[in-house]
Amino acid sequence: MSGRECDDAPRLLALACSPRRGGNTETLLDAALEGAAQTGACIERFHLRELRISPCLHCGGCVRTPGQCVIDDDMQQLYEPLRAADRIILASPVFFMSVTAQAKAMIDRCQPLWVLRAIEQQPVAASRLARAALYLGAGGAGSPDSFDGARLTLNAWYWTLEIAERRELTFGGMDDEGAIRGHPTALDEARRAGCDLAAWRSHEE
Ligand SMILES: Cc1cc2nc3c(=O)[nH]c(=O)nc-3n(C[C@H](O)[C@H](O)[C@H](O)COP(=O)(O)O)c2cc1C
Repeated sequence: MSGRECDDAPRLLALACSPRRGGNTETLLDAALEGAAQTGACIERFHLRELRISPCLHCGGCVRTPGQCVIDDDMQQLYEPLRAADRIILASPVFFMSVTAQAKAMIDRCQPLWVLRAIEQQPVAASRLARAALYLGAGGAGSPDSFDGARLTLNAWYWTLEIAERRELTFGGMDDEGAIRGHPTALDEARRAGCDLAAWRSHEE
């Protein structure tokens, strides 16, 4: 997905963050992308389990050279889409009350963007439209606080990425691999959420 290839269509970046192929959150993501595709969104999807993304080293490199990460790994493929996407969908199960390690490594590696925004006071977003994000989550427990940890982490990430419109669709009680398919409304809800996210426009646009 490059700006040119997408022409005027909104750019949607999808991040599948579960280590489990075809699991609950990936199934939700498939449905959400089906909905988004109906609106003509230009979709680029990454499976983080297939990428080699080192944890942040807190080496200070991104302060010395603002906005640049010195680690040469697959995270370098994500910086441009993260900055340019009009829409982002992150799909992650709850692991020990937060997002997966795959998601967290990617989020921590957004520290160069945090440096740009918080220290350099430069824009991070390079999108054409006001940005919006959707979190798709699944957890084995049915407890109402299951997604609180993920929410806190994502809110800090959204702030860094200048994403004001924040949505989520989460399902507890989903431990088995195919459990989400047995939910009476989950996939329809995900399809609708993907469609709504892609079609959303800020009042200023
Ligand atoms: C390492 C690990 C930690 C987990 N921690 C939690 C947790 O804290 N709360 C919860 O509700 N479910 C937890 N789960 C269950 C998963 O969130 C659940 O199985 C989910 O449906 C997996 O989604 P996926 O199929 O997209 O990978 C954990 C699973 C694993 C493997």
